Amino acid sequence: MLEKFWEQEAKKLKWFKGWNKVLDWNKPYAKWFVGGKINASYQCLDVHVENGLENKIAIYWENELGEKKEISYKKLYDDVNKFASGLKKLGVKKGDVVILYMPMIPQAVISMLACARIGAIHSVVFSAFSYKSLKDRINDTKAKFLITADYALRRGKNIDLKFVVDLAVHNTTVEKVVLVKRTDKGITLNEGIDVLYQDLIDNAQDFCEPEKLDSNHPLFVLYTSGTTGKPKGIVHSTGGYLTYVNSTFKQAFGDLKNEIYWCTGDIGWITGHSYIVYAPLMQGTSIVIYEGTPDYPDTSIWWKIIQDYKVSVFYTSPTAIRMLRKISSDTIKDFDLSSLKVLGSVGEVINPDVWEWFFEHVGNKKCPIIDTWWQTETGGFMLAPKISYKISELKPGSATYPLDQIDADIVDENGKSVALGEKGFLVIKKPWPGLTQGIWGDKKRYEEIYWSRFKNYYPGDYAIKDTQGYFWLLGRSDETLNISGHRIGTSEIENAAILNSNVAEAAVAAIPDKIRGQNFCLFVVLNNKSEDEELLKKEIIQTLKTEIGSLAKPAKIYFVESLPKTRSGKIMRRLLSALLRKETIGDVSTLQDANSVEKIKLVIR
Ligand code: WT7
Repeated sequence: MLEKFWEQEAKKLKWFKGWNKVLDWNKPYAKWFVGGKINASYQCLDVHVENGLENKIAIYWENELGEKKEISYKKLYDDVNKFASGLKKLGVKKGDVVILYMPMIPQAVISMLACARIGAIHSVVFSAFSYKSLKDRINDTKAKFLITADYALRRGKNIDLKFVVDLAVHNTTVEKVVLVKRTDKGITLNEGIDVLYQDLIDNAQDFCEPEKLDSNHPLFVLYTSGTTGKPKGIVHSTGGYLTYVNSTFKQAFGDLKNEIYWCTGDIGWITGHSYIVYAPLMQGTSIVIYEGTPDYPDTSIWWKIIQDYKVSVFYTSPTAIRMLRKISSDTIKDFDLSSLKVLGSVGEVINPDVWEWFFEHVGNKKCPIIDTWWQTETGGFMLAPKISYKISELKPGSATYPLDQIDADIVDENGKSVALGEKGFLVIKKPWPGLTQGIWGDKKRYEEIYWSRFKNYYPGDYAIKDTQGYFWLLGRSDETLNISGHRIGTSEIENAAILNSNVAEAAVAAIPDKIRGQNFCLFVVLNNKSEDEELLKKEIIQTLKTEIGSLAKPAKIYFVESLPKTRSGKIMRRLLSALLRKETIGDVSTLQDANSVEKIKLVIR
């Protein structure tokens, strides 16, 4: 049944050669469509060009400055072909890792597809990550090639990406940097390393034969945070992944061939990979890419985009909706949003009141909200309403049910299914084609993190199944935070903080945040008492920014004498969070130093 279903789904794509085995399941490693040959770029482009969709718009792009571009499928096809042959000329080979550090510009999509065309493995690094984070990912993948742009635009400012890249590639495996020049500003190129994107395109061939790739050839590696300090490179296959994102996109959102689809995510995250680039383009959808935040140049810009492009499917995150509700609930009525048919949400639990606002004010009570639960590791949606459900079947705050052939359950500590209505750990009991192939260069860690706690796949989320079988996600069960829909590990932040020379120890305490969902405060034990505490706080914030990026900004820093720890030395982060929320805390007798709690209370006050 499972195999039959996925075989049917795979047949909806164009394969150069069929498979001889649907699934080779060697737990926890799944190989799908073994022996089959396929190419992601061919699937997203050539298929449409061959089917007469040349003139159809693939990408409507706009930025904060109001600059616009319309790119047809044929134009995208041409650009990808040229850039792919340019990359080949530069020496990129099948199986090479190419790092992308790019803003939300069409060249980012072109770069992903060009890599896919020649069988290079792309690894997109979110462009707000720091040079250290970028360097870590270069070192982990041992990439020889990197693609970037001179600037990213953010709230009216030019962010100098080239500067970050210069710092990051120094003393690494990177041999060539391809640079998209967006501005007229002069730029110094590093001789022998930097190559202009435009030069590569100008000197490239018009056509580049798509590589006939093994179904299990990796399409990309994308890093995500975990419980330890070191981010994990999540690897995805080609054939299984494409089949999965194509199928789940249609199950959840329907047939979008004739729709205008806008996903507000960034290609630096899995949402951007699966549901900005691969699934929508495979379907021949017209996508909108807007390079900018909801609050700049004014607080109605997103409504204007929906109105101007007649967006019919709008997929965004609870954090963005909360922000929009706050900044533009009085101006939203001035815009014509009647083109909207379907809304979507991703990244964290959508609070029921936020759901209601989204439903009423954005969707005018006529659009279903497709609340999609999934992760970087799952490749695509796992739990989500299907487009075929009635609006009355949705429950605000619930991602409803598993999609086709996803076998989800909720279990207790011992892996036993819990009763309906009881909280437990979400697990997935059968493989699916979007399941990651593992962690780049670290088999053991993959097996440990996801497969050792229970005998099934363990995503790290708490959930409840209600008496009607609806799933309610309840947040992470591990030491990771979810800030604005982005996962970040507490120890990742703590490890970064102690790189400041005056920080002896640091602990992250999660706090609720009205817009970002979650945020954190940092508790710090100093090596030496500081003369100027405000300055030191600024320095620590800077350290976090340099080590990780702008996501890792604490709401507050507290200097404390010691951290609350169990006798075995584990920092009690949850206790710190409870103290911040002024909750009464229970028995602290198991602490190493029960006095520390009283002292921390004083500091917080
Ligand atoms: C974690 C995955 C999937 C792309 C964005 C984040 C949380 C994600 C939902 C949702 C409740 C959600 C989970 C998950 N999460 N979507 N609709 N309802 N929680 O990808 O960085 O891999 O994070 O985000 O905790 O495990 P990610």
